[in-house]
Amino acid sequence: MVKHSKLAQWLQKMQDLCQPDNVEICNGSAEEYDRMWELLLGAGVAKKLNPDKRPNSYLVRSDPADVARVESATYICTERKADAGPNNNWVAPADMYARLNGLFDGCMRGRTMYVIPFSMGPIGSPIAHIGVEITDSPYVVTSMHIMTRVGQAVLDELGSTGEFVPCVHSVGVPLEAGQESPPWPCNPENLNIAHFPATREIWSFGSGYGGNALLGKKCFALRIASAMAHDEGWLAEHMLILKLTSPEGNVHYIAGAFPSACGKTNLAMLIPTIENWKVETVGDDICWMKFGDDGRLYAINPEAGFFGVAPGTGMDSNANAMLSLTENCIFTNVAETDDGDVWWEGMTDTPPAHLVDWRGKDWFPETAKKPAAHPNARFTVAAAQCPVIADEWEDLAGVPISAILFGGRRASVVPLVNEANSWNQGTFFGSIIASEKTAAAAGKIGELRRDPMAMLPFCGYNMADYWQHWISVGRKTGVQLPRVYYVNWFRKDDAGRFMWPGFGENSRVLKWVFERCEGTAGAIETPIGNLPDMDSLDFDGLNLTDTEIAHLLRVEIDGWLSEIPLIETYYDRYGDRVPQELRQELMSLKRRLEEAKQAAA
Ligand code: GTP
Ligand code: SPV
Ligand code: MN
Repeated sequence: MVKHSKLAQWLQKMQDLCQPDNVEICNGSAEEYDRMWELLLGAGVAKKLNPDKRPNSYLVRSDPADVARVESATYICTERKADAGPNNNWVAPADMYARLNGLFDGCMRGRTMYVIPFSMGPIGSPIAHIGVEITDSPYVVTSMHIMTRVGQAVLDELGSTGEFVPCVHSVGVPLEAGQESPPWPCNPENLNIAHFPATREIWSFGSGYGGNALLGKKCFALRIASAMAHDEGWLAEHMLILKLTSPEGNVHYIAGAFPSACGKTNLAMLIPTIENWKVETVGDDICWMKFGDDGRLYAINPEAGFFGVAPGTGMDSNANAMLSLTENCIFTNVAETDDGDVWWEGMTDTPPAHLVDWRGKDWFPETAKKPAAHPNARFTVAAAQCPVIADEWEDLAGVPISAILFGGRRASVVPLVNEANSWNQGTFFGSIIASEKTAAAAGKIGELRRDPMAMLPFCGYNMADYWQHWISVGRKTGVQLPRVYYVNWFRKDDAGRFMWPGFGENSRVLKWVFERCEGTAGAIETPIGNLPDMDSLDFDGLNLTDTEIAHLLRVEIDGWLSEIPLIETYYDRYGDRVPQELRQELMSLKRRLEEAKQAAA
């Protein structure tokens, strides 16, 4: 029984619209989880993995037409197009409702409508928020069990009047009497992932995969939450959260925004190569920050699990992720081994002699033309299973953030690390991050695109207004803001090889950031920001020549000067909504670069 009258009314309305055969309110229990898997096994979309290898774990193969987020079908529906901004696809709310009412009409015929009450963040945290997802996909139910906090405790917290974000999801494949469902039902021709920031609701039709379907994640925790945060004076960000402990036992919490498939999960679980430093995980993808009474930003990880990129994850690159994956996992679109386990590119150096690939076809290393796992294959696992999950990861108060990192994949120009002089310059750094495109979203891979704050696909309103929000947050009185850094692990040499070893070695940069927060490390002021000098960044034991180090930390005056017009053009897309403060940062950067160039001439 649902005590919350608004919730009950909405459920009735959705039931009338979608016309499911059954309705089931999810309680988040193990029994419910197992029952969903019975359904998925029966549908032939899931396989139980060998319990001796990977207890209580499943392999799922999606439809090859439904393998990643689809940004071209993702919409922000505001009354005025300008409020969604050039960063979003826009449809007017009335038009979108008309479209959705058509699509959802009878869309759950022959299926069960699952109602999933979920909390983003530890239940009862003042930083957390509640959502209710309606879905006709048992796979979504199992994933939401792991990725969010589901069940009666959420309904109890909601009481009879609490606020929740309604999230409607359908795979978009109704069944006529006697008709059998395809193993992975989806409706890519009619894909629509629609967000209504003003009324804080989400409607998603046609996909069962990841961020398209697990609506607590990018849809709620970023697109809708960013709009809530704007109105309420907090920050909803695409950031990992880590706890860094020095050999002396001092602690700083660091958040970091990197675009999809650019290293958040890796950094969050990093094993430092520098002695006696410790990294523990608070979150690997999303970070909600609200101001505490002491004026600091306190962060929670709104998620309860990791939905991580499988390819590239191995004991050598991310051991803590591998060690999280020993049991109770879901693997989607990875390859299957002959002994009933999973494999993906990067898990081991040499692939097994035979695999069944993510499409279900035989795969042999000698003859393979394509990877055995889809490049956006993902694991789903409870965060609690991470061997380095921080004790305080579920603290209701959150953790105080000392520093924010921004980064992306940049083969050139951008140095290993660069510290902002001020919050406004940090906001400027965030606004100009660009990255080479990855497989996390459909589209051409490798192209450089601006991805401000790693929020391009996730900001639920006009990006320029979002920048203004960042500037405004910095102007609040009595606040003690985190320091901001621009980092780049992905610089390449002329032969196209990564110059920086990355992964665990990134701890060297974290250490410098930590020591800057403590006031114990030096820096050189340069035209682009504060860079570590050769002595303050710990390169001990690293197999890099002085020339290589100098290259990684070089201020490329000409390279930056040629970025300036590109940034100007980019800002111009947002017209006069771009905060004056950012235009000023850009102008003074240009002036400093020109002065440096003249001085060198
Ligand atoms: P999403 O979950 O899509 O948001 O991605 P993410 O930001 O969590 O990225 P993830 O940590 O899963 O890393 C994606 C890819 O980047 C993997 O193939 C990693 O091996 C690679 N990667 C991560 N960190 C580094 C690094 O420091 N250097 C290099 N060269 N590659 C890295
Ligand atoms: C991303 O693309 O940033 C992801 C995967 O984390 S998804 O949940 O599908 O958005
Ligand atoms: Mn990730």
